[in-house]
Amino acid sequence: MVSTQQDSAAHPVHSDARDAIVIDGVSKVFRPRRGGTVTALENMSLTIAEGEIVSLIGPSGCGKSTLLMLVAGLDTPTAGTVTVRDAQVNKPNPDVGVVFQKDLLFDWRTVIENVLTPFVMRGQSPKQHVRRARDLLAQVGLAGFEDRRPYELSGGMRQRVALCRGLIQDPDVLLLDEPFAALDALTREQMQLDLQKLVVGSRKTGVLVTHDIAEAVFLSDRIAVMSARPSRIVEIIDVDLPRPRTAEVRESPEFATTHARVHSLFKKLGVLHG
Ligand SMILES: Nc1ncnc2c1ncn2[C@@H]1O[C@H](COP(=O)(O)OP(=O)(O)OP(=O)(O)O)[C@@H](O)[C@H]1O
Ligand SMILES: [Mg+2]
Repeated sequence: MVSTQQDSAAHPVHSDARDAIVIDGVSKVFRPRRGGTVTALENMSLTIAEGEIVSLIGPSGCGKSTLLMLVAGLDTPTAGTVTVRDAQVNKPNPDVGVVFQKDLLFDWRTVIENVLTPFVMRGQSPKQHVRRARDLLAQVGLAGFEDRRPYELSGGMRQRVALCRGLIQDPDVLLLDEPFAALDALTREQMQLDLQKLVVGSRKTGVLVTHDIAEAVFLSDRIAVMSARPSRIVEIIDVDLPRPRTAEVRESPEFATTHARVHSLFKKLGVLHG
């Protein structure tokens, strides 16, 4: 059930699936302008199988967003390699969708224009993708809001737009950086169900950064628990809950056991005191 970083290259949940993401010996050292260095990641390795959803959970500042940026090709590692579907990552890839920690919507563009932005950024006409954009928005309850501006929407609605934008290119891999952190508990629960439908339903590979243990348990096949900086993966915990998961699964003993395991690990690491 619980594996350490040494055997984290294996992915017990989908043992017959191909590797979607291979993070191999990755370090990232920042050199801030004011001087000194910040080692965000040190010799980190993790392999994620196709169709798997893995959560990264760890203390603030431990390098979770940094790791996602490296997988997205929006930054480069200081050492080691990141491979997505057998190709080494060195630039952004349309097969990898990203939902950032902040929703980063353009307030001067309409909702549907925001969803279609990735095509515009790549110099492509978004016209033939309008229908898919409408379908995605409808799937997350935003039919009728296509021509509104983001400032007219609630925080939860904005995050749904950001999710649709992450999915518009139908990426094989979706990276989500605390997409629901700013939402109230009810909206968050609904978003988790929406996300499960969109990602698990289409067999995408997902990497979810979260601070929320219950969210990680609900959505993941495995949870990678990270230590404080310089960060390493302390343990990888399998989540053996059947899919699709309904709200009731949160009441099950298996859910409670997995939740308690992650929680006690944070206590052991000194991340939680009590
Ligand atoms: N561009 C940068 N220049 C310098 N230091 C950086 C840069 N980006 C991140 N860092 C540093 O790297 C470390 C990891 O940052 P990162 O944003 O990856 O953390 P995180 O785990 O996502 O935190 P949080 O949970 O608060 O979002 C932090 O100490 C941060 O200050
Ligand atoms: Mg972050």
